[in-house]
Formats: sequence, structure tokens, C-alpha cells
Amino acid sequence: MLKSISLQNFRSYKKQEFSFEKTTLIVGPNTSGKTNLIEAVNLLSTGKSFRTDKDPQMIGFGDDFARVVGKFDDFSAGSGQTLSLEVILTNGQYMGVKSQYKKFTVNGVPRRRVDFASNFPAVLFSPQDLEIIIESPSLRRNFLDEVLETVDRDYRIAVISYQKALRQRNALLEKTREEGRRLGKPLAQRDKDFEYWDKLVIENGQLITQKRAEFIEYFNNLEKNIFDCLIKYDESVISKERLIQYEEEEVMAGVTLVGPHRDDFSVLMFNSSRSNTHDVKFYGSRGQQRLAILQLKIAQIKFVEGILSKTPVFIMDDIFSELDEGHINLILEQIDKQQTILTTTHEEFVPKKMLKSMKIISF
Ligand SMILES: Nc1ncnc2c1ncn2[C@@H]1O[C@H](COP(=O)(O)OP(=O)(O)OP(=O)(O)O)[C@@H](O)[C@H]1O
Ligand SMILES: [Mg+2]
Repeated sequence: MLKSISLQNFRSYKKQEFSFEKTTLIVGPNTSGKTNLIEAVNLLSTGKSFRTDKDPQMIGFGDDFARVVGKFDDFSAGSGQTLSLEVILTNGQYMGVKSQYKKFTVNGVPRRRVDFASNFPAVLFSPQDLEIIIESPSLRRNFLDEVLETVDRDYRIAVISYQKALRQRNALLEKTREEGRRLGKPLAQRDKDFEYWDKLVIENGQLITQKRAEFIEYFNNLEKNIFDCLIKYDESVISKERLIQYEEEEVMAGVTLVGPHRDDFSVLMFNSSRSNTHDVKFYGSRGQQRLAILQLKIAQIKFVEGILSKTPVFIMDDIFSELDEGHINLILEQIDKQQTILTTTHEEFVPKKMLKSMKIISF
């Protein structure tokens, strides 16, 4: 359980500390810093921002470093034990000295990101998550990565290795293509340089695919309390045979054409008699799309809990404004199942009797 967080030069915060209870509601007008605070909490969980992949953006304007420290009750380590997680971000310079961009410590001991994540699992739900269903496949892949990176160190490492190998392999394909152009005849044949990278993309890619399939199977077998749906995994299998099959096309395109970086999935909702399914992306109302996302997030919480034996903190950023009362109540029913942090611009979205049991931080 997250007890407190202190922020230094983090986005709009100079120096500030916040404490949390089982349920904490953050209330404030637009631009008051609600999402910034949530972003810092989530950073302690994943070691990454959910808004940007450029870490220095999280540093306050004009500052050269930012620091976020979270204090936790660590029930798994025994009663009364606390856990301290810290992230330091720099611009590449710290007090005039060249510095790493990101540093992590767990109880004061430096850690790599792969070993930092999963100390404090969190699941985030924000209005932008609707994009997971309706926008491009990369957002759906990000969702799968987020779920699996929280629970699985091998997966975290496989993703890093895969991305690195993919970049190298694509550079080689591009080089082969250019060479072919220069010689005036297409070079369909890959040379020996590829062997090493092929092996890496196949090994890591297959692990990624397998773990993604495992989560999807978990989701499909789970009893749905919010929205009755299924995930259909549209996987791009990577194997030696497939790389050989697409050899010519890959050289022509100058990029790797198969593998989990091309995966996608769709969410299928049932008709009322459960005899048929339809893709929520094309046939779901906005309300149904939101419920499907909420169901994905609830499944994520359960999946993480089952593997880590720690219940993730549920973070909900500004999700009330577009929902009707029925849907708001459905969400509020979920909040007492784990530690929850909510943000809203208007306290009135939350029924009065529920407010009583919440800690309120108002800006
Ligand atoms: N790196 C930064 N340094 C300083 N200020 C920043 C930085 N990044 C963002 N801000 C500012 O922080 C302020 C608060 O942003 P935040 O997204 O937390 O608002 P919010 O309370 O979530 O608002 P909304 O209700 O509109 O979502 C904004 O004015 C934003 O411009
Ligand atoms: Mg916000």
C-alpha cells in the first residue's frame, strides 16, 4: 500500500509531499496538477511515464533533475515493514556533471529498471485508454506489454532485447536494399550478418508471443463482471521458416515484416443470446467501448494479483466526466477491492455517502 509520495522538481511541483489512504480522491480544476501527481505514482510502479517516452519532459521547466520518492507498507515483508522506492530523472547533466537519465533505488539500493518494476504494481485507467480499442495496433501492443512487464522480468528483458535486435536487423535490411539498388539488381539473398540478429528476434519474439497468448487466454477464461467480451489475438508469428518465406519482401521493404511488433488484437462483444460476436471497435457504443476497457483493466488487476500475490493500486484519472450515473456506480463498486486513487474536477461526481470513506486531496 502506498503511504506517501514526495515530489521534487517533478513537472509542476517544486517540492511537495502527499499521503494516501485506502481510497484517495484528488480534486482540482484543470491544470491544477492532478495528472502530474498520478504520473509520478505510476512512475514508481513501471519506471516509465504513461504520457511520454521522453523522460526529461517530466522534469520541471528550468530544472536539471527531478526526484520522486514513494513510501509503502510492505505487508509481504512482514507487518510494520516499509518499502521505499525512488526515481531520479536528469537532463543528462546533474550539478554540471554528466549523468544517467534515470536512476532507480529500492530501499536506497540502486537497481536497474527491469529489477525496479513490479515492486509496486499499479493499474492505470484514464480517458485516453479508449484509444486502446479504437486507435492503432501499437496501443494494443502497449497494453499487452504493460500488463506483462508488470509481472514478468523475463518479458521485460525480452522486450528490450527484441527491440534492439529488430533495430539492428532493420538497419541490415535497409543496407542490403541500398546495395541492391547500387548494383542495379535486387539482392534478395541475406548474408551471414543476419544470422545473429535473426536468432535474437526469433528467440525473444517467440517468448513475447507466448506470454501475450497466455494473458489473452487468461482473459478469455475469466468470468466477466463488467462487460461480456473476448479477445481475439491476431498474432504475427516469428520463426525461421517465416523469415525465409518473407526474405525477398523484407529486403524490398527494408524492414522486418513478421514478429510481435506487428501483433494486434480485437475485443469481441457477445450479442444478447451469446450466439454471435461483434468487434467492439466497429460496433460498440462509446459506453460499451469504455466498459470493455474497464473490463480489460479489472482483468489486468486480477492477473497481476494472481502472479505477484500483491494487489495492484488502481489509479483512475478523470474518468467520470464522460460517464452516466449507472456507469459511474459500476466503477465505484470496484474501488473498495484494492487501494484506489481517483482524480476528478468535480467532487459531485462521487456520491456523498462514498466521499465519507475517502481521503480527499484538494487543489
Ligand atoms: N515539465 C513541466 N514543468 C512544469 N510544468 C509542467 C510540466 N509539464 C506540464 N506542466 C504543467 O503542469 C500543469 C498541470 O498539469 P496536469 O496535467 O497535472 O493538470 P490536471 O490537473 O490533470 O488538469 P486537467 O483537469 O486539465 O487534466 C499544466 O499547466 C502543465 O502545463
Ligand atoms: Mg489531467
